[in-house]
Amino acid sequence: MKKILVINGPNLNMLGLREPSIYGNRDFKALLAFIEESAKTLGLEVECFQHNHEGAIVDKIQQAYGVFDGIVINPAAYTHTSVAILDALKAVQIPTVEVHLSDVSEREEFRHHSFVSLFASKTIMGKGFDGYQEALEFFV
Ligand code: DQA
Repeated sequence: MKKILVINGPNLNMLGLREPSIYGNRDFKALLAFIEESAKTLGLEVECFQHNHEGAIVDKIQQAYGVFDGIVINPAAYTHTSVAILDALKAVQIPTVEVHLSDVSEREEFRHHSFVSLFASKTIMGKGFDGYQEALEFFV
């Protein structure tokens, strides 16, 4: 069974409370349940990791080397700023799919650039929770 690491970046733990007109009313616990259910249906083993700190995300990606077959990552705000997360993904060379709940291409200019996109095999945006399922399907 393929092992997939799902990483969520800063403020995604605030789902439900955070800007519901953009991110919806469902909370982070509901997202985790959705991801676990999707993985089960697709026959994938999944581990979910959320952190607000860039370095902790870098550490987790490094530790994924030799352990996980794929990474699904919503780097949240670090999408647009983090060379360190991009470099960690390049270092471990684990196939990666990038996900965003909202359609970042339709939002502020500063959200249009993604460092992680320079490594990710695929980027899914604007599909809410379903985007995570589509990302997992990539590994089936
Ligand atoms: C996000 C989009 C980012 O621009 C933002 O900083 C987030 C969430 C999304 O899922 O739509 O925190 O990655």
